[in-house]
Amino acid sequence: MTEARESWGSKFGLILAMAGNAIGLGNFWRFPYMAAENGGGAFMFPYFLCILIVALPVMFVEWNLGREGGKYGHGTLGPMIYLQTREGISPKKAAIYSAIVGGITFSVPLLVDAYYIHIVGWSLGYSFLSLTGNYMVGGSTSTAAAFCNYISDPVMVFVFWGIALACLAFVAWRGIEKGIEAWAKVMMPALYILAFILIFKVFTIGAPVNPDWTPLAGLNFLWNPDFSQITFSTFLAACGQVFFSLSIGMGIICNYASYLKPEDDITLSGISTVSLNEFAEVILGGTLVIPIAYVFGGAEGMSAGPGLAFINLPNIFIQMGAEQFFGTLWFLILFFAGFTSAIALFNYVVTIMYEDFGFAKGKASLTAMILFVLVGFPVALEGLLAPGTGQTFYLDELDGWVCSYLVIFVGLAELIGVTWLSKNSLDKINYAGQFKIPAWYYNIFMKILAPLFLLVAIIGATKDKIVAGYFKIVPNFLDPAKVTNFDGTVLFVNGARLLIIAVIAFGIYHSYKTLKKHYGKEIAENKVSIIKEA
Ligand code: PHE
Repeated sequence: MTEARESWGSKFGLILAMAGNAIGLGNFWRFPYMAAENGGGAFMFPYFLCILIVALPVMFVEWNLGREGGKYGHGTLGPMIYLQTREGISPKKAAIYSAIVGGITFSVPLLVDAYYIHIVGWSLGYSFLSLTGNYMVGGSTSTAAAFCNYISDPVMVFVFWGIALACLAFVAWRGIEKGIEAWAKVMMPALYILAFILIFKVFTIGAPVNPDWTPLAGLNFLWNPDFSQITFSTFLAACGQVFFSLSIGMGIICNYASYLKPEDDITLSGISTVSLNEFAEVILGGTLVIPIAYVFGGAEGMSAGPGLAFINLPNIFIQMGAEQFFGTLWFLILFFAGFTSAIALFNYVVTIMYEDFGFAKGKASLTAMILFVLVGFPVALEGLLAPGTGQTFYLDELDGWVCSYLVIFVGLAELIGVTWLSKNSLDKINYAGQFKIPAWYYNIFMKILAPLFLLVAIIGATKDKIVAGYFKIVPNFLDPAKVTNFDGTVLFVNGARLLIIAVIAFGIYHSYKTLKKHYGKEIAENKVSIIKEA
């Protein structure tokens, strides 16, 4: 590519875009119920430990992979890992290693965004329903029924999914500075403002249901650790949440970092991203959702699971008699958070079209949109085929494998690639850094503890999946006695699995081909010869 690579317009814009990438539905929708399900305070201890031991190391490594890859014109993980490992383990071995890692990573943004864009669409649809003052789609009598009806209502689903898709394609087409950065500069501050308004309301509602259920008692649940409740699965859940929330192991932080200039700092920026995300998650997400759920339902109100955002909170807003105002605020927060993350996943796919297939930005964005329509269609179809059941097996299957499994592999492969299989990594990470990572942190945390921790997490997650029957054609959770519309669900679950395998296989093939195209000579001679100075 001869034209200059796109780059971020300003440091402020970059940090907001990176924060927008990380801050997503994970912070406001997933964190509160994960924390609640795993014992509140008991969850927070392993959670912070995971940030220190795993998340920061992976974050530094991903920023470094991105900045180095960007120098050579790459925005995807395959070539990035190749560039770092070729000196450490020879170009031939590096090509195989990075084709595999790049291939697995290819599946993450494509498959995750396929369903994530739907949830972004739901958030927008629910903002609209709140604003117009009626959640009760199709005359439902409860918010649970309303949600089930929502996802089987073709008008609601297709209109808001379509708007979300079109906006994403538009932003990606506008590019890094004029698209992603410009939208993040509006959406991120708006998100913080809306969240503060809602928090103010939460702390002034008192205890209308039970005098003991005060907002502060709700917070106490999150901040009072009961160490006896911490188990291995709490650790696994915390590790999964940290990955999900910080968008690590997905290739998308690397992609954003590839638009840095070689002289841009990555250490302080990496820490800033983690801090902004944690502020949004623990302070905003935790302070908003957990006390609201507690005030209206006590400890039991916290065990709502994934339905918390779309089923329980609307119910609470109705009880508060403020569904129009607070409902709109809440769902707009979800929408802004979700959109600025969905665009990062979307842009990864656009980058592949643009850099590897040579499509112009417009064509690349449109092709990505069509791909997301195809891969995301079963999510809509499942709702339509099993109306009123709220079934999301296809979505859950993609999420279960990709988000709580594959991302951990990718994170581990990145860490090993950079800290063990490369040369001078610490110097590269610290280059132009406004803060230098000390050698002891690098040697103890980044090189040893973080990979070990992830290895244990993978073994634990594999065991959990075996116990849950995930490796069976008809997994345990599809017990015919418990599932309505049984035949169809088996099809959706196995369809999702076949798709994951096919996408990874294509990803590996494609990554290898891309490497051959750019570095074929080097790989054939097995000697590093293509060097670009910073
Ligand atoms: N970290 C973001 C979130 O918390 C982004 C993300 C996107 C995570 C897609 C998982 C899947 O929502």
